[in-house]
Amino acid sequence: MSMSDSEFLRACRRERTSYTPIWLMRQAGRYQPEYRAIREKVGFVELCKNSDLAAEVTVLAVKQLDVDAAIIFADILLILEPLGIGFEFTKGDGPSIPKPVRTGADVDAVAAKINSAESLRYVMDAIDKVRREIPKTPLIGFCGAPFTLASYLIEGGGSREYHHTKAFMFADKGAWDALMTKLVDALIDYLTAQVNAGAQALQVFDSWIGALSPSDYRTYVKPHMTRLLSSLPRSAPVIHFGTGNPALYQDMREAGGDVIGVDWRVDLGAQWNALGDVAVMGNLDPVSLLAPRVELQRRAQQVLDQAGGRPGHIFNLGHGIFPQASVDQVKALVDYVHEASTVTRS
Ligand code: CP3
Repeated sequence: MSMSDSEFLRACRRERTSYTPIWLMRQAGRYQPEYRAIREKVGFVELCKNSDLAAEVTVLAVKQLDVDAAIIFADILLILEPLGIGFEFTKGDGPSIPKPVRTGADVDAVAAKINSAESLRYVMDAIDKVRREIPKTPLIGFCGAPFTLASYLIEGGGSREYHHTKAFMFADKGAWDALMTKLVDALIDYLTAQVNAGAQALQVFDSWIGALSPSDYRTYVKPHMTRLLSSLPRSAPVIHFGTGNPALYQDMREAGGDVIGVDWRVDLGAQWNALGDVAVMGNLDPVSLLAPRVELQRRAQQVLDQAGGRPGHIFNLGHGIFPQASVDQVKALVDYVHEASTVTRS
């Protein structure tokens, strides 16, 4: 069987599959004892930059869980370094950008062009190593969407209300568009380099897009997302993922992507009907992993029922696995989806 016949890539193209493919956002992470053991020895950014270790944790998740796709171990913020913006991960508090972008002059200082194949060579090396180790498993490359990245740059870290980001956007649309244009140029280069290095699919994470209203999405974000999503290599299907505001999915779909990734705030079936002819990824509430096994399975079945066997469903959580989840529960979810979806199809 060739790689392009894999269940995951078939589902991205909305072809029939013999079972529902599943992978999980953050499938490599702190919920795994093996990951925690590696992290006792190396810092998070160091782990991302060490292509042997990054490949190792990418492959570990696939082997441990038997998922249908790998996602390269990296982070959406790594691109900030070639853009000339310093960042760090502080223990417990997540990412921090010591000198946030707050003025037009700060935007001017962001690099206009990057060469990812060189400056993010460690990601390309990790992709190449994963390709060789698990040649039959499709590998997803990824990036953060321009709004989500801009929100980190402008806030200086994570945020609940996005006051700085929105104030910047509302005050100076020219500077906002200039920043988004630079980010999109860099992301096109980065994602293209990941495909050239061996990724078979791409995901764009717009994790914090839910902070916006549909009207603001259309004014400040959609044109930039449209340019990004229409400028990527056609050989790799693109998953366009966003969370937090279901009212945005229609516009996200119009902006582009072969697969729309939805969170648990929607009924997958109704949302899919509204989206129409596109593949859909999702959307189990990640907290279901903390429920008793039978309840976890019942909830997974609900998602499968919502998809109703339509071609083009990729099972995933509505957002990433969190550190409190147990490997046993995660594996039980993967097994359940494989078994239950095979039975209902035959
Ligand atoms: O397995 C995979 O999914 C691939 C690896 C991956 C990571 N980050 C590793 C990671 C991916 C796809 C990401 C994307 C990412 N990074 C997003 C989008 C996805 C999402 O969750 O919405 C975002 C917003 C980030 C930024 C980021 N990185 C934050 C906010 C944090 C701190 C919060 C946290 O979970 O600790 C990170 C750190 C991070 N990225 C970890 C991992 C495994 C934990 C770091 C550690 O080991 O201490």
